Amino acid sequence: MTRQATAIAHPNIALVKYWGKRDRALNLPATSSLSVTLDRFHTRTTVTWGAAQDEIVLDGVEVEGHVAQRVLDFLDLVEPARPPCRVVSASNFPVAAGLASSSSAFSALALAATAAAGRSLEPAELSVLARRGSGSACRSLWGGFVHWTRGERDDGLDSHGQPVLLDEPWDLRVVVAVVHAGPKAVGSTEGMVRTRATSPVFPVFVAENEALVLAGRDALLGRDLETLVSCMERSTTLMHASMLTAVPSVRYLAPGSLAVLDAVDALRMSGVGCGWTMDAGPNVKVLCRAVDAERVRDALALHIEQVLVLGIGGPARLVEAL
Ligand code: PMV
Repeated sequence: MTRQATAIAHPNIALVKYWGKRDRALNLPATSSLSVTLDRFHTRTTVTWGAAQDEIVLDGVEVEGHVAQRVLDFLDLVEPARPPCRVVSASNFPVAAGLASSSSAFSALALAATAAAGRSLEPAELSVLARRGSGSACRSLWGGFVHWTRGERDDGLDSHGQPVLLDEPWDLRVVVAVVHAGPKAVGSTEGMVRTRATSPVFPVFVAENEALVLAGRDALLGRDLETLVSCMERSTTLMHASMLTAVPSVRYLAPGSLAVLDAVDALRMSGVGCGWTMDAGPNVKVLCRAVDAERVRDALALHIEQVLVLGIGGPARLVEAL
């Protein structure tokens, strides 16, 4: 029987970072992390469970090789003895460019594939499944702010996202300076494996990050932007320091990234509450209050051509299930 389901998911940006795997096959993280889900950017994925043959279409192009294999391996996790499947997925923002496209992609895929397979999973189980596709995807099932707990179990069943519920919504913005929208040179898995194996700074990142997650979560609950951005910048700095001190060095930053950091420092000096983070790419994301977003955007636009203002997104959702 052919079944089809479509899901939409938003990417998330880590406020306190995930970098390094304690189990590569299961995508179990070395540390917990904390994220914000973005609005506007999304991935929309349709899975047909029972097609003539396996077929993967990403952003309008049929893909083969390791990109297709990663999707097919994920479908095998949903059901090892599955029928041939067709997956059609498209994102409305640059993929593999440090804009967290794998988080929305594997979150949408997990939701659409399980629905198309006729399976209904609890949110934590779905998050565990999404994590197997891409670690950060386990945080994209929820809107708002999400805490991914590292977990202790070897099978990873306690390593999944959980929403951080605020009493009232907090009207924050993420201003994205698109320093470079092209694909990154070193994929996140390769970068993580190399960093963990060779960087003398990586243990320092791991040792500090767990406390930063808890302090960041408390700052969120207490609406304390100053503390939140200090946790975010500290975690980001330690993560990039560990990348840079890997052998060979993993360098995602570009001159434009540093110009944006200087601009944020200047904004802060002038009294605007804001702070930055960067992922596996040169783009910089700046967290600020909604009322300050235009001022932040204008300041960054002096240095970077493309600056986008995003709000806080909602949860991943099914939009059709036949
Ligand atoms: O989920 P992955 O394998 O794309 O790794 C994401 C890693 C960072 O974006 C750099 C940090 C994070 O916590 O999202």
